[in-house]
Amino acid sequence: MIFAANFKMNHTRTTTRDYIEVLNKKLATKKPEEKVYIFPPTTALDRYEGEITVGAQNAYPANNGAFTGEIGLEQLEEFGIKTILIGHSERRDILGETQEKVAEKFAFFKEEGFEIIYCIGESLSIRESGDDAVMSHLLSQFEGIDLTYDNLIVAYEPIWAIGTGRSATAKEIEITHAMLRTKVSAPLLYGGSVNPDNIGEITAIDNVDGVLVGSASLDAERFASMILS
Ligand code: 13P
Repeated sequence: MIFAANFKMNHTRTTTRDYIEVLNKKLATKKPEEKVYIFPPTTALDRYEGEITVGAQNAYPANNGAFTGEIGLEQLEEFGIKTILIGHSERRDILGETQEKVAEKFAFFKEEGFEIIYCIGESLSIRESGDDAVMSHLLSQFEGIDLTYDNLIVAYEPIWAIGTGRSATAKEIEITHAMLRTKVSAPLLYGGSVNPDNIGEITAIDNVDGVLVGSASLDAERFASMILS
């Protein structure tokens, strides 16, 4: 099972270091097949001790250059970062990343051999239009994406479930992941209001290979309890 924590714009360099220290201690007894990822904010990227994989929430698809406010491959390589989130709905919807840009990032970091957690998800109005509308939207987010890439993980995160406390139901997740499974053999994560109370039910669903957790991951002990539960 894969447990990934997306800190978004939370935590600092100091608190991320403390967090990882606590998590490492708590996870000393975890089963080796449980893979743990942390995506801290850019300012907290570093080389950290332990088995937790640290990845970037975002980066620009270039080695370096005149891209004000961005970081690229050179800045990630300084800390040995080889894992990246691409296509998160907050980057698509709040920061205006088009499918074309997302696909360009994917191609660049694929070429560099990164492990890519590629995020897709639909809005509430699409969800309310039914399973066919959901699937056709999700497939449109695969445009320009090499689904056969062997270092790929796909995260299904319905936008209406993110940060709302309202996770998709087990049935909705099961149906959507089953549809996704017919298109992609990569591990499939679910994200959207995953918390200690619902993680057991969610990870038991067929074709759910792990979770991508936002708010409930911000406290190290709480996130550890989800991994160990
Ligand atoms: P929440 O767990 O806060 O709903 O966020 C999910 C998410 O967007 C993870 O990438």
